[in-house]
Amino acid sequence: MTEPAPKVDMEKIVSLCRRRGFIFPGSEIYGGLSSFWDYGPLGVELKRNIKEAWWQAMVQERDDMVGLDTSILMHPRVWEASGHLEGFSDALVECKSCHLRWRADEIEGNTCPSCSGELTEPRLFNLMFKTFMGPVEEEANVVYLRPETAQGIFVNFENVLNTTRKKLPFGIAQIGKAFRNEITTGNFIFRSREFEQMEIEFFVKPGTDREWFDRWIEERLNWYVNLGIKRGNLRLRQHTKEELAHYARECSDIDYLFPMGWSELEGIANRGDFDLIQHAKYSGKSLEYYDEETKEHFVPYIIEPSAGVDRSALAFLCNAYAEEPDNNEIRVVLHLHPRLAPIKVAILPLSRREQLVAAAKEIYADLRQCWMVQYDDAQSIGRRYRRQDEIGTPLCTTIDFQSLEDKQVTIRERDTMKQIRVPISELRTTLQAKLAGEDFFILPPGGKIWKE
Ligand code: GAP
Repeated sequence: MTEPAPKVDMEKIVSLCRRRGFIFPGSEIYGGLSSFWDYGPLGVELKRNIKEAWWQAMVQERDDMVGLDTSILMHPRVWEASGHLEGFSDALVECKSCHLRWRADEIEGNTCPSCSGELTEPRLFNLMFKTFMGPVEEEANVVYLRPETAQGIFVNFENVLNTTRKKLPFGIAQIGKAFRNEITTGNFIFRSREFEQMEIEFFVKPGTDREWFDRWIEERLNWYVNLGIKRGNLRLRQHTKEELAHYARECSDIDYLFPMGWSELEGIANRGDFDLIQHAKYSGKSLEYYDEETKEHFVPYIIEPSAGVDRSALAFLCNAYAEEPDNNEIRVVLHLHPRLAPIKVAILPLSRREQLVAAAKEIYADLRQCWMVQYDDAQSIGRRYRRQDEIGTPLCTTIDFQSLEDKQVTIRERDTMKQIRVPISELRTTLQAKLAGEDFFILPPGGKIWKE
């Protein structure tokens, strides 16, 4: 079977994000700060929608999951226990193509053992950003910005268990910032030094871990597909023994076919009992679970689906981007799932005449109580539709002179560019139904097909 080729250039995505206010280079007026990015007015909505969709599916709709929000700075012993302090302070070389890092003293020559790519020069490297707590900058006051959100979950395992009375199997979910002083960054927001993770630590009885590992892979693949990612743009890649992280028994990546090729979108790891045992050892607190049915004490195993918010945003943008013929021109359109689209509905009065503006503003005021809605009265209606297509707005509502007479407006669908006309009294419920996936041509009472 031949591999599918990436369909979109990264430059086009970067340019669209910059032009339309999704993502800007961090600290841009000072020349930027390498591998830091700022999310603009549309980017922040996209990111918020991704996080909310994840939280709804992973926490809100599940009986076996609770949420958590832990601090970025943690006790320095956490990073001794987790292995991050030791693991990240070797002299490392990094492969310039697959980004795997190798200890310099274990490598012969200058090629990557995994993909034969060229390696960087060896550098003494600790991946964690250091800072100081309190006024004195000395070794005793060093704290680290967390390189993963996971550790905040492990150290709160007992707190959550005691306060929620959850029984195994159950999970704890967290969304938050993580920081890594990456050696090689690049590919836009794919690999940056400050990013956001959406992590689940799912605690299971040893022996049931394989089954849960497989279930979580399925669950997480479906989440992306349900939000519009084409299945052909996703693949599973099992880690070899050599590339497994120090804590993992097994790990599979969900890869996405990004413009630079197949790359990790999310990792799903079986961390076994490594983390709870380590934190029990370093903190002196028992982190065992008591099974009331079998009257046994044991340390749970952990299955960890760990996704990146920024990488998800990039995957959703690449997956949605299209250039399509529109009469004699080409339109750029983001076919984002309505759940993820930054703006759900655009309100477009046909002209700036006072009566039309008043009617349009009334509709705008009503709809913005439900969704992020944009009002746009600048330039021709065609150009305004194009602008909304380019930022992925699923529906446009146009108010014309006839609307003042018949109290009806048109709704135009982004993907098909078809239009229906509906009474203003039915507008809110109709938009709601279409955004939830109802066929565009199912009409409300008094509605009609306008343009096929
Ligand atoms: N707790 C496990 C863990 O952190 P990871 O594979 O290192 O595992 C999980 O990271 C996810 O976090 C990745 O699949 C990716 O989506 C995101 N991620 C990791 N490093 C990143 C970086 N430098 N920039 C953007 N996203 C990153």
